[in-house]
Amino acid sequence: MAYKIAIIVGSLRKDSLNRKVARSICGLRGDNLDCSMIEIGDLPLYNQDLDSNPPEQWTRFRQQVAAADGVLFCSPEYNRGIPGVLKNAIDVGSRPYGQSVFDKKPAAIVTASPGSIGGFGSNHQIRQACVFLNMPVMQQPEAYLGHVTDDSFDESGCLKEGPLKDLVTVLAHAFAGWVEMILRSRQLLAEDSAHAAQQKAKEHA
Ligand SMILES: Cc1cc2nc3c(=O)[nH]c(=O)nc-3n(C[C@H](O)[C@H](O)[C@H](O)COP(=O)(O)O)c2cc1C
Repeated sequence: MAYKIAIIVGSLRKDSLNRKVARSICGLRGDNLDCSMIEIGDLPLYNQDLDSNPPEQWTRFRQQVAAADGVLFCSPEYNRGIPGVLKNAIDVGSRPYGQSVFDKKPAAIVTASPGSIGGFGSNHQIRQACVFLNMPVMQQPEAYLGHVTDDSFDESGCLKEGPLKDLVTVLAHAFAGWVEMILRSRQLLAEDSAHAAQQKAKEHA
């Protein structure tokens, strides 16, 4: 069974390089991932006053992330940090307090840029948010995709054959393994606690 992966792209640009990288990942075969891109451009800015009566776009976004087994962030870097539109989506999904749809979901982060350091700053700011969101983030391979340009893609908007596509393919396979490990570990822990609870109940019977 393939794992359902919500891909959140941190760029609204029609010809976004990061969207094309995300599309390429969606198009990979044999990696056990069933990817879909979750739109974030229509999300009203997060405002805690609206928690009791949330906009329908927030509800739609939260439901889409909640239905996924894992989350893949695919984002540019803006001024060495997370683009505001992505930070807004993260904030929307993280609230109301105690009801974050990101909680415990395995995650991976890809950043792509025409620049040479491949969105390193943005990548690590997303990683920092994931710590607070309680998301187990895949550590390796890291994916700071530098020197990405329109020329990196074919007419269908997917990565051309070459080292960049190879790296993204390795990442997608590693992420499938990561999601499997996290979900399986969580299931085993739940079974252990259920067993321990049964034993305790027997002892007290
Ligand atoms: C507001 C803004 C800030 C940017 N800051 C950075 C930056 O800090 N580092 C970087 O590598 N590129 C930066 N860029 C260039 C982006 O990497 C480039 O525009 C890229 O194509 C954006 O990603 P996208 O193609 O997915 O939309 C910036 C672009 C914009 C519009």
